[in-house]
Amino acid sequence: MDLGRKTAMIPLSTLFSLSTLLVSPALAQTTSTFLWDQLTPGKHLNWVTCYSTFQCARLEVPLDYANASAGTADLAVIRLPANEVGVDTLVSTGASFQVVFGSEYDIVSFDPRGHYSTPVASFFQTDAERALWNAGSLPSSLNASADALPHDWARGSVLGQLAAQRDTSGILKYMTTDNVARDMLLITEKFGFEKLKYYGISYGSILGVTFAALFPDKVERILIDANLTIEATDTDKVLQTFFDSCVAAGPDLCAFYESTASAIADRLTALTNSIRKQPVPVVTPTAYGIIDYSALRSVLFTSFYVPYILWGPVAQGLAALEGGDGSILFSITQTAPPFQCDCSNDTVPFHLNNAEAVFAVQCGDGVQVTDTLDELRDFYDNAAKTSQFVEFLVGGGRVTCAGWKVYREGRFLGPVAAANTSFPLLLLTTSADPVAPEAAALQTLAGFPGSAIFTQDSPGHASITAPSICTSTYFRQYFQNGTLPAPGTVCAADIPIFSPPQGPPAKRADLSADDEALLAALKVIADSVRPVITKKYGN
Ligand SMILES: *[C@@H]1O[C@H](CO)[C@@H](O)[C@H](O)[C@H]1NC(C)=O
Ligand SMILES: *[C@@H]1O[C@H](CO)[C@@H](O)[C@H](O)[C@H]1NC(C)=O
Ligand SMILES: *[C@@H]1O[C@H](CO)[C@@H](O)[C@H](O)[C@H]1NC(C)=O
Ligand SMILES: *[C@@H]1O[C@H](CO)[C@@H](O)[C@H](O)[C@H]1NC(C)=O
Ligand SMILES: *[C@@H]1O[C@H](CO)[C@@H](O)[C@H](O)[C@H]1NC(C)=O
Ligand SMILES: *[C@@H]1O[C@H](CO)[C@@H](O)[C@H](O)[C@H]1NC(C)=O
Repeated sequence: MDLGRKTAMIPLSTLFSLSTLLVSPALAQTTSTFLWDQLTPGKHLNWVTCYSTFQCARLEVPLDYANASAGTADLAVIRLPANEVGVDTLVSTGASFQVVFGSEYDIVSFDPRGHYSTPVASFFQTDAERALWNAGSLPSSLNASADALPHDWARGSVLGQLAAQRDTSGILKYMTTDNVARDMLLITEKFGFEKLKYYGISYGSILGVTFAALFPDKVERILIDANLTIEATDTDKVLQTFFDSCVAAGPDLCAFYESTASAIADRLTALTNSIRKQPVPVVTPTAYGIIDYSALRSVLFTSFYVPYILWGPVAQGLAALEGGDGSILFSITQTAPPFQCDCSNDTVPFHLNNAEAVFAVQCGDGVQVTDTLDELRDFYDNAAKTSQFVEFLVGGGRVTCAGWKVYREGRFLGPVAAANTSFPLLLLTTSADPVAPEAAALQTLAGFPGSAIFTQDSPGHASITAPSICTSTYFRQYFQNGTLPAPGTVCAADIPIFSPPQGPPAKRADLSADDEALLAALKVIADSVRPVITKKYGN
């Protein structure tokens, strides 16, 4: 059914990794100023103007689709109506997505349960309590010391018990991905459509393929960008790309330059060893902290998500750190001012509780982890053979979930596959993604016969971290006409990884006016993917 409007659905606040959260590129950066609690939830999408050009609604959905008496949740849903791209919306990423997909689409986003929706997932009674648990702003490396892994495991266990004990709303066991997929179908139906058109990035990719596995006949378009996995990884390939592209960029653009990749690698190892022995204290006019082994490794790992934004500053920060100045690296990690207690205990229902929601989904979704500490140590040592960044990869998924308690019987545990979706899926992978390796995407491809895959030749997590007109053209063709790229299609990025900090926007004589506009929109999207380094909850 087509009521004259088309929709492209992009979930809100879903870009996450295991120790790092990225703010959603879709619409999330605007959502903190809207009072969602003043909207009355309803069984239909009752739109209210919000954030000037957007429309917001709170949709009542069953907490448990198999049991109506379990109660309801109220989902935050937001849309940018079609043809709303005006001058003052051009700066928003929602509008930029409309440029990418086509101005005839409503861009619709929604909150996977537990973030902006109610009930919220919250393990703490006050922000102060949360801040004390998370004291220190950075995730610590599981390789930081001999007791890092046992410590992480023990904290995960405290948190698992706390979450279960404080789950008074009962939301936790219903926050699983299968239920969010059911919400997506309901939202689609509330729009008057039978089938879903969807673009999922990172965790959004898990949602997309779960939807396709559960509702294969409800697929109109599903575009999967960055198949997330915590097992086999291409993380070391991203590090190698950092070295190689620094050599290629030269000393003016890459401050950590050496004439060969192996010389840069040696220099980084020397710096890391020195910081392990002697951390660097940092005090700036507005913040303070230390750059130690964990901080250094964590900045590096975070930069792998968004090389086009962070590799220039990270290279400068590494060079400065050699001279004892940790302030540049610190400013990359320090995304919020030090916590100040306002001593009030009224919990705001709609504050972004991303980390706890993510933790709950991550632990509650899969098979229960029953490993002993010794087994976890073996698992870690084995994983360390595949990546030297396993210190951040394994922690979130396995070690910290070992104490999780809340699992719903009958949750979807796979297989993530369907013999016959009503339309082929389109998968996309970058050439070096720290948490979504090509091998994982190929495995997903095998589960959905008839689907297609193509590659964007750039490092980083998901294609949107590097603007590519070529990639967007395939997006549009798939969304508008259902055209799949030919096997083996590879798209290049349209900007260099290392570029001058405040370089003038290079005029591209080869681009049409439409492509110029598209490139500008893609840059807005890429710039909006700001990594927020939060402490992962286990340590
Ligand atoms: C349905 O939910 C109600 C309320 O939470 C609960 O008491 C009941 O046991 C549930 N039924 C099933 C079959 O899970
Ligand atoms: C990603 O790949 C893994 C295989 O490594 C697979 O098990 C998983 O389901 C995939 N996830 C998504 C979201 O496609
Ligand atoms: C904290 O909450 C309690 C119980 O709701 C209330 O009585 C008290 O006044 C609150 N304190 C502050 C500082 O808001
Ligand atoms: C952990 O740190 C040691 C140095 O103390 C290093 O030799 C080793 O390679 C590191 N392991 C990983 C997996 O990074
Ligand atoms: C797949 O779906 C198409 C169209 O719905 C149908 O014609 C075809 O028989 C199906 N194939 C299988 C193997 O189910
Ligand atoms: C879709 O197909 C039509 C008709 O062939 C064509 O004019 C249009 O350019 C195509 N759209 C895209 C985005 O390729």
